[in-house]
Amino acid sequence: MSTPTLKATPANPDVPRHIAIIMDGNGRWAKRRLMPRVAGHRKGVEALRGVIRACAERGVANLTVFAFSSENWRRPQDEVTLLMELFMRALENEVAKLHENGIRFRVIGDLSGFSERIQALIRDAEALTRDNTRLVLTVAANYGGRWDVVQAVKKLMASNLDPADVSEEMLAQQLSMADMPEPDLFIRTGGEQRISNFLLWQLAYTELYFTDALWPDFDNAALDAAIASYRARERRFGRTSEQVRAAS
Ligand code: IPE
Ligand code: IPE
Ligand code: MG
Repeated sequence: MSTPTLKATPANPDVPRHIAIIMDGNGRWAKRRLMPRVAGHRKGVEALRGVIRACAERGVANLTVFAFSSENWRRPQDEVTLLMELFMRALENEVAKLHENGIRFRVIGDLSGFSERIQALIRDAEALTRDNTRLVLTVAANYGGRWDVVQAVKKLMASNLDPADVSEEMLAQQLSMADMPEPDLFIRTGGEQRISNFLLWQLAYTELYFTDALWPDFDNAALDAAIASYRARERRFGRTSEQVRAAS
């Protein structure tokens, strides 16, 4: 189930079951306003709040957002510190509201990189919201797509499997989001057209959408434009257009 693209052609619903977003452009948003970069990150949290609500309203079952990459530690120390503070405040202040709204909260990434306090807040938030089913919000923090593949390989190797028996499905089952459908739609704001070590394995057949909108400006209309673009695409999964049309 976790790797539908390895099997038959997956269903292609009008509303993406899973949207994955690289929330980029906070710094530039702030710079244009002669504000410190952290002001852009604060605005970015507000934009995320709106997108979570909009996804729930539109019936999107899974939303995964890239909040902090394993490479973002390379930023100036003061920006990293402020981002960690913002992450902590968001965990303290937003989780109750997510829970009230039936949203399950999860974090993927190498959590050992975070302070004890942040790790505890994450554990509590995941435990509190674990039975919610309206929307699964996954935050990728200290996450890297390559890290994810490597940690999956480590788990496989620890199980003393015969290398000849290793299959794509088995590796996929060890990835951070093994229990979720692969993203149908990937969105990157901020104008760059790259993956930046976000989900690598899982994006194999995802529809990619890039917009120049900076993340703090990404509103409901922008989300709807991305979904409309997704709907207009023909997902062929290797087949011909004629085959796809005959099957639908
Ligand atoms: C994305 O915005 C947020 C994080 C990476 C934490 P940026 O901070 O990368 O914003 P730009 O790309 O510098 O505008
Ligand atoms: C990707 O954005 C990571 C997040 C949005 C968290 P970056 O701004 O770090 O990506 P690069 O460095 O421009 O590729
Ligand atoms: Mg950036």
